[in-house]
Formats: sequence, structure tokens, C-alpha cells
Amino acid sequence: MRLLILNGPNLNMLGQREPEIYGHDTLADIKILCEQEAEKYGATIDFRQSNHEGVLVDWIQEALGTVDGIIINAAAYTHTSVAIHDALKLLSCPIVEVHLSDPHTREEFRHKSFIEPVAQHIFKGLGKDSYIAAIKALAA
Ligand code: DQA
Repeated sequence: MRLLILNGPNLNMLGQREPEIYGHDTLADIKILCEQEAEKYGATIDFRQSNHEGVLVDWIQEALGTVDGIIINAAAYTHTSVAIHDALKLLSCPIVEVHLSDPHTREEFRHKSFIEPVAQHIFKGLGKDSYIAAIKALAA
């Protein structure tokens, strides 16, 4: 099983970024956790981050026919990006939306998700465990 894990803008700053909301783990820490979890299921992961919407769209397009599942924390683009929504619609593999925080309990502008309509599962508000839950869901 090949899993692509995509992370959007500002997630490269985890550890320094609003730790009271996002915790103290860095994205590199979360990557290691994901690799350890994936290994339990014999899955391989490709873990990426970009601050650029078009780069995320390119990576989603490249995933067509080459991965068995996508886990995406589109970060702020969750709430704005029709382009990422449209790119995800290209894919036939399962898509899992993840968030460290629970956007629905935060500012109103975070309540709308353009990923939600194309996702089979959503894990939010669990901190780094949202990623682990997503890997488990795809492995199952
Ligand atoms: C986030 C929630 C988004 O609203 C925010 O813009 C992020 C991170 C999360 O993981 O909790 O950058 O996706």
C-alpha cells in the first residue's frame, strides 16, 4: 500500500506555530510517527509539505494511478481551494482529510471545507493522532 500524505501552508512551522493550538511536535516528528504507523501495515508513505497551492495540485495530479490512498491536511487551503478540491476529484483512491485542531470549533471562516465533499473520512481535533487515525482507516 502506497500512501501520499500532503501538508499545506504553514505546517512546516509546527513546533513554533501557535503551540497552544497545534502542539509542540514538528512536522518532522509527525512524519516519523506516520512512518512508524505505516510500517505496522507494510505500507510505504510519501510525506510532503508545500506552502504553494499549485504545487499541491501538481502532486495530487501526479498521484493519479500511482498511490493507494491520500491523506491531506490542506491547512488554510482547506477553506479556500476549489483547485485542490477539483484535483482530488480526479482520483479514484480513498482520500482522508486530517486536521490537528478541530476547525469547526474555531473561527467561522474555518467551518467550510472544500476537501470534505471529496473525502471518505475526516479526522480532526486529535493533534498528531489525526494522522495516525487516517493511516489506520486506510489500512483497514
Ligand atoms: C489546520 C486547521 C486550518 O484551519 C489551519 O488553517 C491550519 C491547520 C489543522 O491542522 O488544524 O493551517 O488544518
